[in-house]
Amino acid sequence: MNTSLETGPTTGLSKEYLLALPKAELHCHLGGCVPTEMAARLAKSHGVEIPESAVRHGGRYRFANFDEGLIVLNAVTSSMQTARDFEEVTYESLKVAASGGVRYREHYFDPQNHPKLSYPEMLKGILAGAQAAEDEVGVVSRIVPAINRELGGEAAVELVREIIRHPHEYVVGIGLDSDEKAGRPSEFVAAYDLAREAGLKLSAHAGEHGNPDEVEEALDLLKVDRLDHGYAALEDAELSSRLAASQLPVAACWFVDYPAWEVPGRIRDHKAMAAAGWNFTINSDDPALIGPELHDCYFDAATQMGWTVDDAERYSLAGLEGSFADSPTKDRLRAEFEAELERIRPLA
Ligand code: ADE
Ligand code: ZN
Repeated sequence: MNTSLETGPTTGLSKEYLLALPKAELHCHLGGCVPTEMAARLAKSHGVEIPESAVRHGGRYRFANFDEGLIVLNAVTSSMQTARDFEEVTYESLKVAASGGVRYREHYFDPQNHPKLSYPEMLKGILAGAQAAEDEVGVVSRIVPAINRELGGEAAVELVREIIRHPHEYVVGIGLDSDEKAGRPSEFVAAYDLAREAGLKLSAHAGEHGNPDEVEEALDLLKVDRLDHGYAALEDAELSSRLAASQLPVAACWFVDYPAWEVPGRIRDHKAMAAAGWNFTINSDDPALIGPELHDCYFDAATQMGWTVDDAERYSLAGLEGSFADSPTKDRLRAEFEAELERIRPLA
């Protein structure tokens, strides 16, 4: 296997510039941001089994395909059992991301994967970690609780009710994740209606492995404000044109194929999305689990797609514009991004 990450970028843009590029990440699962050593320690402290072969100290997670990746991810999230665990994971995720130029990150997290902890306790931990990282390195983050689609529509309604019972300005929306084979978007209409009425923004994973119909359901039935992955819509010319016309933000993930490093990034899909005129952004999905951090995704995307400075700046700002942050926060960050983009241009 040989990716451009190992041979160094061939884009005209320097690594120094791409590292410094201000980045906003919209599609990143908290459970996929746990370094292997931390996962092993948390698992041991709570008596959870993570196969030794999957969590190698000082190394990467090991799994052969998407389904195995989800099993490892579930074991890691089962190891997060206290507010302090959530605080530590959130802080670590944001500190690592900030060192690669991430200025804003939305964390998805699946409250249903942590049955031993109440939702308010999880939130308390995430907020503490987010505040500590923001105070220390200035990275801003928001929280998007996600429905685990494997647990069905009724449990999803219960979850959304719990989210609404405990509002917080940092909880900006809901998502829908896990195995697409286990739950079509149409099962979650009631949960999405409730969330929308409560003023939450809506995103959903669709078209990652499934077919274009699922993307259509996410648009028409869930009425999402943003789509995660969405690649399957490329197979349907009409749907693809619709995404281009609406400019709905699509939070795509560069290295989403499992396991990363053994396959190239989703270069074909990203090129097709660009050619079709979609408004997509670059994301890491599960950086610790898959391997590459967001800046690695940017390095590879810049190389593979031959980015110019204009392209890099466009992707930087598209991430921010697609975020669920409130308008004053977005306005403040936009001003910061624009000033920073200008400042670092000579590094390009
Ligand atoms: N949870 C974490 N990563 C995911 C992905 N790529 N698809 C669905 N659910 C996920
Ligand atoms: Zn995802």
